[in-house]
Amino acid sequence: MAKSYKLSIIKGDGIGPEIIDEAIKILDAVAKKCDFTLEYNEYLMGGIAIDTTGHPLPEATVEGVLNSDACLFGAIGGVKWDTLPRNLRPETGLLSFREKMGVYANLRPAVIYDELINASTLKAEVIKGVDIMVVRELIGGIYFGQPRANDGETAYNTMIYTKKEILRIGKKAFEIAMTRDNRLCSVDKANVLEVSQLWRDTMNELSKDYPSVELTHMYVDNAAMQLVRNPRQFDVIVTGNIFGDILSDTASMVVGSIGLLPSASTGDKTAIYEPIHGSAPDIAGLGIANPIATIESAAMLLRYSLNENEAASLIEKAIKKVLKEGYRTKDLADFDAKEVLTTSQMGDVILNNI
Ligand code: IPM
Ligand code: MG
Repeated sequence: MAKSYKLSIIKGDGIGPEIIDEAIKILDAVAKKCDFTLEYNEYLMGGIAIDTTGHPLPEATVEGVLNSDACLFGAIGGVKWDTLPRNLRPETGLLSFREKMGVYANLRPAVIYDELINASTLKAEVIKGVDIMVVRELIGGIYFGQPRANDGETAYNTMIYTKKEILRIGKKAFEIAMTRDNRLCSVDKANVLEVSQLWRDTMNELSKDYPSVELTHMYVDNAAMQLVRNPRQFDVIVTGNIFGDILSDTASMVVGSIGLLPSASTGDKTAIYEPIHGSAPDIAGLGIANPIATIESAAMLLRYSLNENEAASLIEKAIKKVLKEGYRTKDLADFDAKEVLTTSQMGDVILNNI
């Protein structure tokens, strides 16, 4: 009997619905080709959830995603909800969602597509061949640390990591390094912060269990500089929540095309796959959004959560081919475009290559 999987779908706000629709189109095609079935259940989150239920993260969403094999996520947020109190903002819903799903490891690959090497603001010779995986701790650190407060005169947040949390993300990063080039760079601010000293000591301790992986350490300010100066020196980067937030944005611009990059947030309960770009409310509904990052995220979902590697490869190959043939959405129209396509046309040409 054909295998069957349950996916939870969160389209979210802005361009979220448009790009998710294209990814589902592609998922259906590879499922058919590789002989498995996918059942989709849609849930609300972010601004649309606020408008419909009064809360950015309804309980039904939490339960539905926990009961699914994996979640495909579009994007959330928009100016319309930016002035709400902090506890009702879409971003707060997102953080609480990550925490409730237990997705402690956020994987953000930054890979160059040769055809789009000119889309980066950096020189081609600097970025040729870049293939970096940023492993960001996602449910700890200063984002979640207590106490936190702002009384109008004084405000503070707490950057906190337990050894247990560092071991958990560290193991994941070492394991990922072993599937790649066996180089792991741990990024911290151990020259200033106690929390970073514990981070560094723990990574050193852990490295004894992974003798094939070369562990190095870098301060976060230097890492930001090195990413732009010579990005090829990095294979896997592991870092805490806020440093990872910043460095993964930098890494994504090193390769130039934010519309192409997927991400995975994984833990012990479930996993969430989403494009690294946001909800782009300014172009929502115009049919010009680039669906590739979301389709790439669907490929990651197939590979990492469902172990459907063949289906994942079919998607990745189709995307490479389409880019090679010069098909572009508007965001990349200036980079060797043969034909500029709408969101759904891009979905269609990818589909035709599967
Ligand atoms: C990201 C985003 C989020 C984060 C925001 C929207 C809360 O920047 O996923 O990188 O800071 O984690
Ligand atoms: Mg960010």
